[in-house]
Amino acid sequence: MKNALEQIRQKAVSELAQAHDLKQLDALRVQYLGKKGELTAILKQMGGLSAEERPVVGQLANEIRSFIENHIDTRSAELKEEMTLQKLRDERLDVTMPGTLRPIGKKHPLTLVLDEVKEIFLGMGFDVAQGPEVEYDYYNFEALNIPKDHPARDTQDTFYITDNILLRTQTSPVQVRVMEQKKPPIRIISPGRVYRSDAVDATHSPLFHQIEGLVVDKGVTMADLKGTLEIFVKRLYGEESVVRFRPHHFPFTEPSAEMDCMCFACHGEGCRLCKGEGWIEILGCGMVHPKVLENCGIDPEEYSGFAFGMGLERIVMRRFGIDDLRLFYENDLRFLNQF
Ligand code: DAH
Repeated sequence: MKNALEQIRQKAVSELAQAHDLKQLDALRVQYLGKKGELTAILKQMGGLSAEERPVVGQLANEIRSFIENHIDTRSAELKEEMTLQKLRDERLDVTMPGTLRPIGKKHPLTLVLDEVKEIFLGMGFDVAQGPEVEYDYYNFEALNIPKDHPARDTQDTFYITDNILLRTQTSPVQVRVMEQKKPPIRIISPGRVYRSDAVDATHSPLFHQIEGLVVDKGVTMADLKGTLEIFVKRLYGEESVVRFRPHHFPFTEPSAEMDCMCFACHGEGCRLCKGEGWIEILGCGMVHPKVLENCGIDPEEYSGFAFGMGLERIVMRRFGIDDLRLFYENDLRFLNQF
């Protein structure tokens, strides 16, 4: 019997060493130590032993039981450790591996140039103001000195929503909203979308963008207007830019003017870019009409101001040599990725 016990011990040692997961280990525990296990089977035969042999064999059997138990515990600890290491190895992350490259969007060319324009005016002490795109007739026309029967209404084909609500045809209504809310000194620009019922072609779109400007204070003159806008053009198009002011008419300014920039392609000679003119129109401007100031509760005897408005698309087209307005709105990545 002693031999049989020793054999069990040896067999257990070699089998335990070969167990390579906890499930196998558990099976071995049952196989050796369980109620129907090998050790128990031997112990059941102890009845046939003599009184002297019985305690000796019993002691050996107990010793082997705890020997196997210890072995199982040690092996179990080893296996757990191995499993943890394996898990760490499997889940290892190489942070130096290049990631999946996601395509990164870009700023739209209109936004790029608008950001520049904003930066230039912020540098001259202007704030950026906002106004609604769905506007009252009053702000878009009436308060700007364009009454119902005024011919200027015909030049801006308006999308009406009701008799007195419309999609703004210009950013000029923001002038009125700002003057109603704020006392001078006022120095703002207001970029935004405007709408006109035009058919789409290379130079027309029912939706486009304008940038409005307004300065109101004591003693503001036409010289301030010219100086400010000349600096703006030089910052945007380069110090060598040359501008000129031509008399014009807008209902909400008096006097009114348009500002041209000498063509950078031909320097005034006349070419394809400037359509033979030598000059390119940049914006409309003028001294704020006293009636407009009055409409906004500002005393024209005490204050004066100048205003200007320009189309963003045209400025961007000139800047990048884009010849078709529609490209801005089609979201073709082949176009957008060039900026
Ligand atoms: N609102 C005018 C337009 O859409 C542009 C304009 C001209 C704005 C002169 C002004 C200005 O503020 O003073 O044609």
